[in-house]
Amino acid sequence: MLVNSKEVLIKAEKNRYAVGQYNINNMEWTKAVLEVAQANKSPVIIGVSEGAAKYMGGYKAVAMMVEGMDQSLKITVPVILHLDHGTSFASCKDAIDAGFTSVMIDGSHESIKNNVKVTRKVVEYAAKFDVSVEAEVGTVGGTEDGITGGVNYASLDECLAISKTGIDSLAASLGSVHGHYEGEPNLGFAEMEQYSKATKLPLVLHGGSGIPDEMIAKAISAGEAKINVNTEIQENFAKGIRQYIEEKKDLTGTGYDPRKIIGTYAYVNMKKVVQTKIDLFGTAKKA
Ligand code: 13P
Repeated sequence: MLVNSKEVLIKAEKNRYAVGQYNINNMEWTKAVLEVAQANKSPVIIGVSEGAAKYMGGYKAVAMMVEGMDQSLKITVPVILHLDHGTSFASCKDAIDAGFTSVMIDGSHESIKNNVKVTRKVVEYAAKFDVSVEAEVGTVGGTEDGITGGVNYASLDECLAISKTGIDSLAASLGSVHGHYEGEPNLGFAEMEQYSKATKLPLVLHGGSGIPDEMIAKAISAGEAKINVNTEIQENFAKGIRQYIEEKKDLTGTGYDPRKIIGTYAYVNMKKVVQTKIDLFGTAKKA
Protein backbone atom coordinates (compact mmCIF):
# COMPACT_ATOMS: atom_id res chain seq x y z
CA MET A 1 0.00 0.00 0.00
CA LEU A 2 1.73 3.18 -1.18
CA VAL A 3 1.05 6.18 1.08
CA ASN A 4 2.66 9.51 1.91
CA SER A 5 4.73 9.89 5.07
CA LYS A 6 2.48 12.32 6.93
CA GLU A 7 0.55 10.13 9.35
CA VAL A 8 3.22 7.46 9.55
CA LEU A 9 5.78 9.94 10.89
CA ILE A 10 3.41 11.79 13.21
CA LYS A 11 2.52 8.44 14.78
CA ALA A 12 6.20 7.49 15.04
CA GLU A 13 7.16 10.73 16.73
CA LYS A 14 4.27 10.54 19.16
CA ASN A 15 5.04 6.96 20.15
CA ARG A 16 8.82 7.40 20.13
CA TYR A 17 9.97 5.03 17.46
CA ALA A 18 11.49 5.77 14.05
CA VAL A 19 10.59 4.61 10.57
CA GLY A 20 13.60 3.56 8.52
CA GLN A 21 14.29 4.94 5.08
CA TYR A 22 16.20 2.28 3.19
CA ASN A 23 17.79 3.52 -0.02
CA ILE A 24 17.37 1.23 -3.00
CA ASN A 25 19.51 0.69 -6.07
CA ASN A 26 17.72 -2.03 -8.01
CA MET A 27 15.01 -4.67 -7.98
CA GLU A 28 16.71 -6.89 -5.39
CA TRP A 29 17.09 -3.97 -2.97
CA THR A 30 13.40 -3.14 -3.32
CA LYS A 31 12.27 -6.72 -2.80
CA ALA A 32 14.55 -7.25 0.20
CA VAL A 33 13.26 -4.11 1.94
CA LEU A 34 9.60 -4.84 1.21
CA GLU A 35 9.82 -8.46 2.33
CA VAL A 36 11.44 -7.62 5.66
CA ALA A 37 8.99 -4.77 6.31
CA GLN A 38 6.03 -7.04 5.58
CA ALA A 39 7.38 -9.88 7.73
CA ASN A 40 7.72 -7.43 10.63
CA LYS A 41 4.42 -5.62 10.03
CA SER A 42 6.50 -2.48 9.86
CA PRO A 43 5.85 0.72 7.91
CA VAL A 44 8.74 1.41 5.56
CA ILE A 45 10.24 4.19 3.48
CA ILE A 46 11.89 3.31 0.18
CA GLY A 47 14.50 6.01 -0.43
CA VAL A 48 15.59 6.82 -3.97
CA SER A 49 18.37 9.32 -4.64
CA GLU A 50 18.44 11.20 -7.94
CA GLY A 51 21.48 9.16 -8.96
CA ALA A 52 19.83 5.87 -8.09
CA ALA A 53 16.68 6.85 -9.99
CA LYS A 54 18.77 7.65 -13.05
CA TYR A 55 20.59 4.33 -12.69
CA MET A 56 17.30 2.42 -12.57
CA GLY A 57 15.91 4.11 -15.69
CA GLY A 58 14.21 7.20 -14.27
CA TYR A 59 11.48 8.06 -11.77
CA LYS A 60 8.68 6.42 -13.75
CA ALA A 61 10.56 3.12 -13.99
CA VAL A 62 11.20 3.18 -10.25
CA ALA A 63 7.62 4.11 -9.34
CA MET A 64 6.19 1.38 -11.52
CA MET A 65 8.62 -1.21 -10.18
CA VAL A 66 7.83 -0.35 -6.55
CA GLU A 67 4.07 -0.19 -7.17
CA GLY A 68 4.13 -3.43 -9.13
CA MET A 69 6.12 -5.23 -6.49
CA ASP A 70 3.93 -3.85 -3.74
CA GLN A 71 0.96 -5.42 -5.49
CA SER A 72 2.41 -8.73 -6.59
CA LEU A 73 4.06 -9.39 -3.22
CA LYS A 74 0.72 -8.45 -1.60
CA ILE A 75 2.36 -5.95 0.71
CA THR A 76 -0.12 -4.64 3.27
CA VAL A 77 2.16 -2.43 5.40
CA PRO A 78 2.40 1.30 4.59
CA VAL A 79 5.10 1.86 1.95
CA ILE A 80 6.36 5.36 1.26
CA LEU A 81 8.18 5.95 -2.01
CA HIS A 82 10.43 8.90 -1.25
CA LEU A 83 12.82 11.00 -3.32
CA ASP A 84 16.01 11.43 -1.28
CA HIS A 85 17.85 14.77 -1.60
CA GLY A 86 15.91 16.28 -4.48
CA THR A 87 18.15 19.09 -5.66
CA SER A 88 15.59 21.25 -7.46
CA PHE A 89 11.89 21.95 -7.88
CA ALA A 90 12.04 20.29 -11.33
CA SER A 91 13.44 17.08 -9.88
CA CYS A 92 10.77 16.93 -7.14
CA LYS A 93 8.04 17.67 -9.69
CA ASP A 94 9.27 14.85 -11.95
CA ALA A 95 9.25 12.39 -9.05
CA ILE A 96 5.74 13.47 -7.97
CA ASP A 97 4.45 13.25 -11.55
CA ALA A 98 5.90 9.74 -11.82
CA GLY A 99 4.02 8.56 -8.70
CA PHE A 100 6.38 9.12 -5.76
CA THR A 101 4.35 9.62 -2.58
CA SER A 102 6.96 11.71 -0.79
CA VAL A 103 9.85 13.98 -1.74
CA MET A 104 12.77 15.68 -0.06
CA ILE A 105 13.78 19.07 -1.36
CA ASP A 106 17.32 19.70 -0.23
CA GLY A 107 17.93 23.42 -0.47
CA SER A 108 20.47 23.27 2.34
CA HIS A 109 23.33 24.35 0.11
CA GLU A 110 21.50 27.61 -0.63
CA SER A 111 20.97 30.64 1.63
CA ILE A 112 18.09 30.08 4.08
CA LYS A 113 16.05 32.62 2.08
CA ASN A 114 16.40 30.60 -1.14
CA ASN A 115 15.97 27.32 0.72
CA VAL A 116 12.63 28.57 2.10
CA LYS A 117 11.61 29.80 -1.35
CA VAL A 118 12.25 26.54 -3.21
CA THR A 119 10.82 24.46 -0.36
CA ARG A 120 7.60 26.48 -0.40
CA LYS A 121 7.29 25.96 -4.15
CA VAL A 122 7.68 22.19 -3.74
CA VAL A 123 5.17 22.12 -0.85
CA GLU A 124 2.58 23.94 -2.98
CA TYR A 125 3.00 21.53 -5.89
CA ALA A 126 3.11 18.43 -3.68
CA ALA A 127 -0.11 19.45 -1.91
CA LYS A 128 -2.07 19.03 -5.14
CA PHE A 129 -1.18 15.31 -5.15
CA ASP A 130 -1.21 14.71 -1.38
CA VAL A 131 2.54 14.07 -1.49
CA SER A 132 4.55 14.70 1.69
CA VAL A 133 7.63 16.94 1.75
CA GLU A 134 10.85 16.80 3.76
CA ALA A 135 13.27 19.73 3.83
CA GLU A 136 16.81 20.13 5.12
CA VAL A 137 18.57 22.85 7.05
CA GLY A 138 22.20 22.79 8.06
CA THR A 139 24.25 20.26 6.09
CA VAL A 140 24.84 16.55 6.50
CA GLY A 141 28.55 15.85 6.12
CA GLY A 142 30.27 13.13 4.08
CA THR A 143 29.74 11.88 0.56
CA GLU A 144 26.60 10.59 -1.10
CA ASP A 145 26.16 10.00 -4.81
CA GLY A 146 29.35 11.96 -5.45
CA ILE A 147 28.21 15.02 -3.48
CA THR A 148 30.65 15.78 -0.66
CA GLY A 149 30.34 18.35 2.09
CA GLY A 150 31.29 19.14 5.69
CA VAL A 151 28.95 19.09 8.69
CA ASN A 152 27.11 22.36 9.31
CA TYR A 153 24.79 22.34 12.34
CA ALA A 154 21.27 23.67 11.77
CA SER A 155 20.20 26.67 13.85
CA LEU A 156 16.85 27.15 15.60
CA ASP A 157 16.09 30.20 13.44
CA GLU A 158 16.60 28.18 10.24
CA CYS A 159 14.37 25.39 11.55
CA LEU A 160 11.60 27.83 12.45
CA ALA A 161 11.85 29.59 9.08
CA ILE A 162 11.64 26.36 7.06
CA SER A 163 8.91 24.88 9.26
CA LYS A 164 6.58 27.69 8.19
CA THR A 165 6.60 26.46 4.57
CA GLY A 166 4.16 23.66 5.42
CA ILE A 167 6.64 20.75 5.25
CA ASP A 168 5.80 17.42 6.89
CA SER A 169 9.22 16.48 8.25
CA LEU A 170 12.50 18.24 8.87
CA ALA A 171 16.05 17.06 8.37
CA ALA A 172 17.85 19.38 10.76
CA SER A 173 21.50 18.45 10.42
CA LEU A 174 23.03 18.01 13.83
CA GLY A 175 26.32 16.25 13.32
CA SER A 176 25.41 13.21 11.24
CA VAL A 177 27.28 12.29 8.05
CA HIS A 178 26.56 10.16 5.02
CA GLY A 179 28.91 7.20 4.84
CA HIS A 180 31.60 6.54 7.46
CA TYR A 181 32.15 8.51 10.63
CA GLU A 182 35.64 9.52 11.64
CA GLY A 183 35.61 8.51 15.30
CA GLU A 184 32.40 8.80 17.30
CA PRO A 185 29.48 10.74 15.83
CA ASN A 186 28.99 14.09 17.57
CA LEU A 187 25.23 14.48 17.53
CA GLY A 188 23.37 17.49 18.95
CA PHE A 189 20.79 15.73 21.14
CA ALA A 190 19.82 18.87 23.08
CA GLU A 191 19.16 20.69 19.79
CA MET A 192 17.10 17.75 18.51
CA GLU A 193 14.83 18.07 21.51
CA GLN A 194 14.66 21.83 21.23
CA TYR A 195 13.97 21.90 17.48
CA SER A 196 11.45 19.09 17.69
CA LYS A 197 9.44 21.00 20.32
CA ALA A 198 9.79 24.37 18.59
CA THR A 199 8.79 23.19 15.08
CA LYS A 200 6.34 20.44 16.14
CA LEU A 201 7.65 18.46 13.18
CA PRO A 202 8.94 14.88 13.03
CA LEU A 203 12.72 15.13 12.64
CA VAL A 204 14.75 13.14 10.11
CA LEU A 205 18.17 11.73 10.88
CA HIS A 206 20.30 11.35 7.77
CA GLY A 207 23.48 9.31 7.84
CA GLY A 208 21.96 6.49 9.90
CA SER A 209 24.75 4.00 9.11
CA GLY A 210 27.46 3.56 11.71
CA ILE A 211 25.75 5.41 14.59
CA PRO A 212 26.08 3.41 17.85
CA ASP A 213 22.78 1.84 19.02
CA GLU A 214 22.57 3.88 22.22
CA MET A 215 22.88 7.11 20.24
CA ILE A 216 20.08 6.00 17.93
CA ALA A 217 17.87 5.35 20.95
CA LYS A 218 18.71 8.79 22.36
CA ALA A 219 18.02 10.47 19.01
CA ILE A 220 14.62 8.77 18.76
CA SER A 221 13.65 9.90 22.24
CA ALA A 222 14.77 13.43 21.28
CA GLY A 223 12.36 13.57 18.34
CA GLU A 224 13.95 11.80 15.35
CA ALA A 225 11.08 9.90 13.71
CA LYS A 226 12.70 8.91 10.41
CA ILE A 227 16.21 7.48 10.07
CA ASN A 228 17.93 7.07 6.70
CA VAL A 229 20.11 4.04 6.02
CA ASN A 230 22.10 3.50 2.87
CA THR A 231 25.81 2.75 3.34
CA GLU A 232 25.39 -0.27 5.65
CA ILE A 233 23.12 -2.00 3.13
CA GLN A 234 25.54 -1.29 0.30
CA GLU A 235 28.53 -2.58 2.27
CA ASN A 236 26.76 -5.79 3.25
CA PHE A 237 25.58 -6.35 -0.31
CA ALA A 238 29.18 -5.94 -1.52
CA LYS A 239 30.45 -8.30 1.21
CA GLY A 240 27.99 -10.97 0.04
CA ILE A 241 29.08 -10.68 -3.58
CA ARG A 242 32.72 -10.83 -2.51
CA GLN A 243 32.11 -14.00 -0.46
CA TYR A 244 30.36 -15.66 -3.40
CA ILE A 245 33.17 -14.87 -5.81
CA GLU A 246 35.95 -15.70 -3.32
CA GLU A 247 34.34 -19.09 -2.75
CA LYS A 248 34.44 -19.46 -6.56
CA LYS A 249 30.76 -20.35 -6.55
CA ASP A 250 30.34 -18.60 -9.89
CA LEU A 251 32.69 -21.18 -11.42
CA THR A 252 30.72 -24.19 -10.17
CA GLY A 253 27.81 -25.58 -12.20
CA THR A 254 25.37 -22.80 -13.07
CA GLY A 255 26.79 -20.58 -10.34
CA TYR A 256 27.08 -17.81 -12.93
CA ASP A 257 23.29 -17.33 -12.71
CA PRO A 258 22.81 -13.76 -11.45
CA ARG A 259 20.01 -14.93 -9.19
CA LYS A 260 22.53 -17.16 -7.43
CA ILE A 261 25.29 -14.53 -7.44
CA ILE A 262 23.03 -12.00 -5.73
CA GLY A 263 20.64 -14.35 -3.94
CA THR A 264 23.07 -16.62 -2.09
CA TYR A 265 24.71 -14.10 0.26
CA ALA A 266 24.22 -10.48 -0.85
CA TYR A 267 20.43 -10.60 -0.75
CA VAL A 268 20.40 -12.36 2.61
CA ASN A 269 22.88 -9.80 3.99
CA MET A 270 20.69 -6.87 2.87
CA LYS A 271 17.69 -8.37 4.58
CA LYS A 272 19.68 -8.84 7.78
CA VAL A 273 20.63 -5.15 7.85
CA VAL A 274 17.02 -4.06 7.39
CA GLN A 275 15.90 -6.49 10.12
CA THR A 276 18.52 -5.12 12.53
CA LYS A 277 17.37 -1.56 11.88
CA ILE A 278 13.68 -2.37 12.27
CA ASP A 279 14.53 -3.95 15.65
CA LEU A 280 16.70 -0.99 16.65
CA PHE A 281 14.25 1.70 15.53
CA GLY A 282 11.31 -0.09 17.15
CA THR A 283 9.20 -0.24 13.98
CA ALA A 284 8.01 -3.85 14.13
CA LYS A 285 4.22 -4.24 14.49
CA LYS A 286 3.70 -0.51 13.94
CA ALA A 287 2.03 -0.87 10.54
P1 13P B 1 24.13 6.53 5.21
O1 13P B 1 24.65 6.25 3.84
O2 13P B 1 25.19 7.08 6.10
O3 13P B 1 23.41 5.40 5.80
O4 13P B 1 23.07 7.74 5.05
C1 13P B 1 21.93 7.55 4.29
C2 13P B 1 21.19 8.82 4.09
O5 13P B 1 21.19 9.69 4.92
C3 13P B 1 20.41 8.96 2.85
O6 13P B 1 19.87 10.25 2.73
